[in-house]
Amino acid sequence: MGIEKKRIKSKEQTTKNKEVGKSKPNLSVQIAGLKLRNPVLTASGTFGYGEEYAEFVDLNRLGAIVVKGLSIAPKPGNPPPRIVETPSGMLNAIGLQNIGVRAFIKEKLPFLRQFTTSVIVNFFGDSADEFVEAAEQLSSAEGIHGLEMNISCPNKQAGWCIFGTDPTIMSEVVSAVRKKTDLPLIVKLSPNVTDIGAMAKVAEDAGADAVSLINTITGMAIDIRRRRPVLANAIGGLSGPAIKPVAVRMVWEVRKAVKIPIIGLGGIMSADDALEFLIAGATAIAVGTASFINPLATIQIIEGLERFLDEEGVTDINHLIGCLKF
Ligand SMILES: Cc1cc2nc3c(=O)[nH]c(=O)nc-3n(C[C@H](O)[C@H](O)[C@H](O)COP(=O)(O)O)c2cc1C
Repeated sequence: MGIEKKRIKSKEQTTKNKEVGKSKPNLSVQIAGLKLRNPVLTASGTFGYGEEYAEFVDLNRLGAIVVKGLSIAPKPGNPPPRIVETPSGMLNAIGLQNIGVRAFIKEKLPFLRQFTTSVIVNFFGDSADEFVEAAEQLSSAEGIHGLEMNISCPNKQAGWCIFGTDPTIMSEVVSAVRKKTDLPLIVKLSPNVTDIGAMAKVAEDAGADAVSLINTITGMAIDIRRRRPVLANAIGGLSGPAIKPVAVRMVWEVRKAVKIPIIGLGGIMSADDALEFLIAGATAIAVGTASFINPLATIQIIEGLERFLDEEGVTDINHLIGCLKF
């Protein structure tokens, strides 16, 4: 059947469904014991602490809100310039600027508690001890439904190597945090590794309830007139549509390597992009850079998923997860 004919038929079907009052397809998914109303999350660092977007987005419609990464002590981040646009993406070297765990609990969490949407807190540390301390404090606060460990940061005690690129160091920090929290624990994987499936397995074996991937891919841009890096930090993290094919491939590889659920992200701009991740094996997805361009991206993606299911006659989004034929 030609694409146009198929579209017309789908449209007819959608109208028919509405006419006969057919129920809406199920969009709800489960991640690490958390029941989410739909699989669309916000990506850490691109949606502030939720409050910043509340004027544009009904936060009650989101699957979950993942907040900006927090550390025990507040951090000012890197000096500017710390953002540069690149073809089909952007490089950032924000340097994990944040208000700190205590200020988040006191000043930001009360706002988020007004909503029925699950709150997932992204956090990091300069050492395994800092990770553990942050996890303990966050676990005792009311209104946090899950933790996401950002292991794409350097370990001061291990010569500044990145937690998430060394399997031994990664295993130690995930195990240490696992012992101190009963909250669903998501480990956010770094894509800057050779074998992402093996790293996901390390996280699973160390006690992670789920993995999220991918974080940004390290990159660099050069100002040719000044013969200097564009970013004050020289190196930054690449995000946006440019990284989507890498992220989809990694989700597919991780799906084959572990049993725990996957949150897929990296360059998702539309419902079609989100569907690629779900079909590759992600149970949920997160929207990052897209929210900078279009603050309504999350909501439009939720609506687009619903439309797709309707058109395809799929009653439950879970039927699409990992359904890739190969
Ligand atoms: C400005 C900016 C800040 C970010 N801050 C964090 C962070 O604090 N913690 C984290 O785990 N990831 C952080 N990320 C990574 C995103 O959550 C996401 O993994 C990445 O951008 C890929 O998704 P995207 O292409 O949809 O943006 C940040 C990304 C950007 C662009």
